[in-house]
Amino acid sequence: MIPFREYHTLGISVSAQRLLLPHSEDEVPDAAAQSSYVIGEGSNILPLGDLPSILSTRNLRGYRVLRASENSVEVEVAAGENWDRWVRLCIAQGWHGLENLAAIPGTVGAAVVQNIGAYGAELAPFLVSVRGWNKALEAWQELPAEACELNYRYSIFQQPEWRDKFIITRVTLRLNRRFSPVLSYPDVMQRVNPTRQHDPWHLYETVRMIRAEKLPAYGSAGSFFKNPILSLEELKALQSRAPEVPFYAQSDGRFKVAAAWLIDKAGLKGYRIGGAQVYPRQPLVLVNADGATPEEFYALVQHIQKSVYERWGVQLEPEVRLLPPT
Ligand code: EPU
Repeated sequence: MIPFREYHTLGISVSAQRLLLPHSEDEVPDAAAQSSYVIGEGSNILPLGDLPSILSTRNLRGYRVLRASENSVEVEVAAGENWDRWVRLCIAQGWHGLENLAAIPGTVGAAVVQNIGAYGAELAPFLVSVRGWNKALEAWQELPAEACELNYRYSIFQQPEWRDKFIITRVTLRLNRRFSPVLSYPDVMQRVNPTRQHDPWHLYETVRMIRAEKLPAYGSAGSFFKNPILSLEELKALQSRAPEVPFYAQSDGRFKVAAAWLIDKAGLKGYRIGGAQVYPRQPLVLVNADGATPEEFYALVQHIQKSVYERWGVQLEPEVRLLPPT
């Protein structure tokens, strides 16, 4: 058994049977055969106890340009590259589009699995393809973006047939060679200095600052729950109880409601069970405030789901992956 606390951002004191850290694609098939769970930097997981063998892709590094045209560039990047470092590298190279996704924790591979999104942007429109090792087929596969079915905080890699069975090793992205800032998110719009709005580094730094104010530096896994997506009928039912709930129309005719609001107005800001706490500055985020155990964390998750359901009739679904013990 090895201590697992350093290998995930919630920093819970649990152990893992083994940790496999392949440094190259050649080492992936063997490591995959010996592991039960696959992670990146562990920034979106909650261990529920001592864990079986784990493969982390964090040591798969590097990138190469596949092709470049006047307007865009296609780049293949190894799944273990740190996402934020990658965003900065892209800006430095003059490859644009990822600026609003500044400072999101985790790896490039995990960014695809979760279809990361923030401040008016998401990964999906940049994805070209994904390469990885299919454990069941014992073969390398290249999947075009359409086959990955990216949606709000979703990809096919979350399905039981793919999860832990397909190890993403490389991701191909198409990025823009011209910078056109996305300022649709109100927080971003208010904070960007109009005289500097054509500077990609300024947008990057602005998003980084907004995040730093709302999200804790350590001891969290970002938003713990997804923002629920409701039908018009479901939204109306919710509005009859919560006329002020913030909601955003989706392109499919449904509505995304602010889970942070539902938790906040259920009176749970700062609520604590042992060392696990609802972060007071952003109640969608749960933090390990002081040596939380897996049991305390799980009890907090269940308490929030139950309270929100009883108060608002809405079921919150975790965005973070819960990892059952051996
Ligand atoms: N709100 C409250 N009380 C609070 C905080 C927020 O009522 O204390 C309400 C406000 O009405 C606010 C709304 O919640 O307008 C939304 O809050 P925020 O803008 O912070 O965004 P979010 O919906 O809570 C999502 C993503 C974040 C992403 C931000 C910014 C999900 C699950 N989360 O959070 O992503 O950074 O938008 O785009 O979609 C992550 O996934 O880990 C993550 C951090």
